[in-house]
Amino acid sequence: MCGIVGILGSHEVAPLILESLKRLEYRGYDSAGIATIHDGTLDRRRAVGKLVNLSDLLVHDPLPGKAGIGHTRWATHGAPAVRNAHPHRSGRVSVVHNGIIENFRELRQELAAIGLIQESDTDTETVAILANHLLDGGATPEQAVEQTLARLNGAYALLFLFEGEEDLMIAARKGSPLAIGHGDGEMFVGSDAIALAPLTSRITYLEEGDWAVVTRHGAQIKDSAGRLANRPAKTIQIDSAQVDKAGHRHFMAKEIAEQPSRLTSALDHYLTEDGTIRLPAPGIDFTDVDRLTLVACGTASYACLVAKYWFEQLAGLPVDVDVASEFRYREPPIPPRTVALFVSQSGETADTLAALRYCRDKAQSIVSVVNVSESSIARESDLALPILAGPEIGVASTKAFSCQLLVLAVLAVEAARQRGKLDDNALADRIAALRALPGLVNHSLGTSDETGRIAAQLAEARDILFLGRGRMYPLALEGALKLKEISYIHAEAYASGELKHGPIALVDKSVPVIVMAPHDELFDKTVSNMQEVMARGGQVLLITDREGARVAGHGVWETLVLPDVAPLWAPILYAVPAQLLAYHTAIAKGTDVDQPRNLAKSVTVE
Ligand code: F6R
Repeated sequence: MCGIVGILGSHEVAPLILESLKRLEYRGYDSAGIATIHDGTLDRRRAVGKLVNLSDLLVHDPLPGKAGIGHTRWATHGAPAVRNAHPHRSGRVSVVHNGIIENFRELRQELAAIGLIQESDTDTETVAILANHLLDGGATPEQAVEQTLARLNGAYALLFLFEGEEDLMIAARKGSPLAIGHGDGEMFVGSDAIALAPLTSRITYLEEGDWAVVTRHGAQIKDSAGRLANRPAKTIQIDSAQVDKAGHRHFMAKEIAEQPSRLTSALDHYLTEDGTIRLPAPGIDFTDVDRLTLVACGTASYACLVAKYWFEQLAGLPVDVDVASEFRYREPPIPPRTVALFVSQSGETADTLAALRYCRDKAQSIVSVVNVSESSIARESDLALPILAGPEIGVASTKAFSCQLLVLAVLAVEAARQRGKLDDNALADRIAALRALPGLVNHSLGTSDETGRIAAQLAEARDILFLGRGRMYPLALEGALKLKEISYIHAEAYASGELKHGPIALVDKSVPVIVMAPHDELFDKTVSNMQEVMARGGQVLLITDREGARVAGHGVWETLVLPDVAPLWAPILYAVPAQLLAYHTAIAKGTDVDQPRNLAKSVTVE
């Protein structure tokens, strides 16, 4: 959600900033801009829409300078327009920002009262005006930023550049991540290490409340109390190949296709050669736990819903699942002997992070399942379990979902083992079935062409329903979310048993109904619900296995047949057709698959 970059370089920086912004474009694409200093003078270029528009502008109107900051925006305050695009400027100060300044209205009024009027509708310009006003009052850039930060409420990653200062940028972090990159006589700042990957692999992460004075010689970091802070630099390995499309038409297609290898990496990480489960220290003592609270947003929350079935059925462990935006403000009582578990691809989702902090304040033991190991959620957890999906760039989450499911599955098996619910044979069976998943997922990727053919027809629909029962209900939710976010077709998901309590009124022959039903213990029940749909003219796409197709494939509109899988782990396999259907429907509709409208990845505002 908004990406920011800054470079104090030894060559022209605008092309480098543009390249880094491309790697951050998944965070927002409403507008983009760059400001540089050249011969002591600040200048900027800004364009509405995707980065390509800024890139075109720079071809016709280049921006010289060896120091600069850049931004790609997901609009919060103020519509996408050039005047609202970052960098914002006031006098000698230019600023880029990710986050929301909650008290900007009061500050704006206060500044307007002394004649300092804002040009844009943004909260960020207020920050620039305030800092410039302090400079005008005689403060040094460092003092101006320190005093400005002291006035801000809300969340921010901020980067300041000052006219006349070619060897200075000041970065500040509160609530939104920020990484400082170390080069050879050059320094970099970025929203994440991926943005800086081609420039440097030596990264220092700012902690909450930190701010840093950056020159070409290094960064002096202070904590929120103004004390010098010693934050270590780490070498981060990000393979450039992981952040390009590797010959695929879209990142989403690449990320769907990567799932077999990503699942294998996660299995290798959590399972030993001899089939035992290996959790990083300090592990979890599930014999000492009475309840799990699982909290996440969006797709990650659907992974939690699947995991509820696993923990409850396998380990006899009660689970509460909540979306973070509700959990954080509900003030839920947390019983003793509860483990709070947070699932997040980015590890920076504002609501999930706030929910984690709520639980931490209640002295809960905090476990997280994250993709970005250096993220805030990972770092604030007692135990962070990486999902090892590799960088996920497509805004619609795919491989992160299947890897989240896999790690949660391993945890559920481990909980069952510790709680004496699985004997050695049953344990070995569960693990062998997990080990089979990458091959099965690979096999189901082979349904892509057939899915494409079906999707061409789905693309004509105005509304689509997804149905599932038991462990497949969250998959139905995920299928509907994936479809609506990239194809913009209205899609809803229901637990199939709920259909006749209202939603069946939506069914007619114009509404395709996608039923996700492996031939498991609930199959007959789901098929009954499917028949009720067909009796009312509903066009059913049945996603099932060979036996399911044999028993119930007659009379349905279409059947998609997946390989047989251990019923318990079917949600991991059935994620693939959910993703492929959404992908191909979006292609048929000609929408922007990797950067769907109004969305951004890494939702760092609430
Ligand atoms: C949907 C999607 C979102 C994210 C949600 C949480 O495809 O990607 O629903 O799952 O924004 O994001 P993370 O997992 O980064 O906390």
